[in-house]
Amino acid sequence: MNVNTQKLSSARFAEATDAFVEIFTASVDFDKRMAQQDIQGSIAHATMLCHVGVLTQAELALIVDGLTQIRGEIERGEFEWSIQQEDVHMNIEAKLTDLIGMAGKKLHTGRSRNDQVATDIRLYLRDEITSILAELKRLQLAILTLADAHTDTIMPGFTHLQVAQPITFGHHLMAWFEMLCRDSERLRDCTKRLNVSPLGAAALAGTSYPIDRHLSAQLLGFSRPTHNSLDSVSDRDFAIEFTASASILMMHLSRFSEELILWASAQFDFIDIPDAFCTGSSIMPQKKNPDVPELVRGKSGRVTGHLMSLLMLMKSQPLAYNKDNQEDKEPIFDTVDTLHHCLRAYADMVPHLTAKKDNMYRAAKQGFATATDLADYLVRKGLAFRDAHEIVGLAVRLGVETKRDLSELSLSELQGFSALIGEEVFDILSLEGSVASRSHIGATAPSAVKAAIAHARQQLIEETFV
Ligand code: ARG
Repeated sequence: MNVNTQKLSSARFAEATDAFVEIFTASVDFDKRMAQQDIQGSIAHATMLCHVGVLTQAELALIVDGLTQIRGEIERGEFEWSIQQEDVHMNIEAKLTDLIGMAGKKLHTGRSRNDQVATDIRLYLRDEITSILAELKRLQLAILTLADAHTDTIMPGFTHLQVAQPITFGHHLMAWFEMLCRDSERLRDCTKRLNVSPLGAAALAGTSYPIDRHLSAQLLGFSRPTHNSLDSVSDRDFAIEFTASASILMMHLSRFSEELILWASAQFDFIDIPDAFCTGSSIMPQKKNPDVPELVRGKSGRVTGHLMSLLMLMKSQPLAYNKDNQEDKEPIFDTVDTLHHCLRAYADMVPHLTAKKDNMYRAAKQGFATATDLADYLVRKGLAFRDAHEIVGLAVRLGVETKRDLSELSLSELQGFSALIGEEVFDILSLEGSVASRSHIGATAPSAVKAAIAHARQQLIEETFV
């Protein structure tokens, strides 16, 4: 009989696995990334088995020693991974049995790779989300510091990418900060549903051993055991929630990127991106390209792609576990890597961005950014807003025709549009006066932005991860 004795699960088979199928079905090349979590899960499982009397203290000691040795070998890069052992779980178990014999073969009692892999990914993602949140916070702090330096730097605010009203650069940066706050909240929220223990669900129906699922959950720092064994082994909602949160975060980074790219162009010339974050062109000697923001903008696409992959992966699966689920790893891993890399690049780059204040100011002066202020001024003088809107439209037309800003029209010219206009109108037609007048919570005045920054700092201090 041609039995493939190499494989742990192969006694039922009369024929060896086809050589290509062996490669095709193996996941060890990528799931070995969860080796530390696999060992962590196995130690908790074995400890629980010993506690309920399924393993002896001596067997547990052997298992823990063996797994600790394997962990060391993996960390040092000495562990020999084998395709024949299919995945990270079977590689480690086979090695354990090589090392400690019979006790190694007992580790899988009351467990299946189905609950094992579900446990591993949850542990893995919990660890990664914690470090992603730390990187995200580093970026948020960098944005706060930059915003603090620019609470009274005036720039044009845009709608439809047309100059709309003057704003402060600090205010614009704090908009980015708000987006990242929601991302951080989403990731922490997703951790709540992720942090439950599927261990003990076994293949799908639970196990006949007297296991203590509360104990293994507690040993792994999970908040509780999952409620249904079928759902435990088939649920990948947490991975979808993670990639959904990651997609939104990447969409935000992509929007920041788009603005940085525009602002760094000769046409806007609002900011300077340090050389260390740009590259030159191989043909055009004058070029300094904003590669980091461009790449981040580009990478947002692949993360959204991973979200789509996971949704499609899950949508037709009957309960409970199916091999399809093995396809969840690569999208998850690549999402994790992309997030780490993009956040790192941004957190490193943002403190070195320089605002070209004069250019920003000059741009805000063009485009009649204080037209709304003039209309509001006329309303305060007793006109209905629609009439004020009409009058200011006429004033703007004169400005366009004579190539002057509203603040550059003379008092008598302005009075030609409305006799209500007095000398003090020039206070509100100035960019400084315009931004200073919007001083309520959430608005652009330097005082309001300073308050927003102080509030944000407090929020970051109070924020607890996971
Ligand atoms: N490598 C598998 C995965 O990633 C582990 C679970 C395999 N379970 C099974 N019944 N074939 O999903």
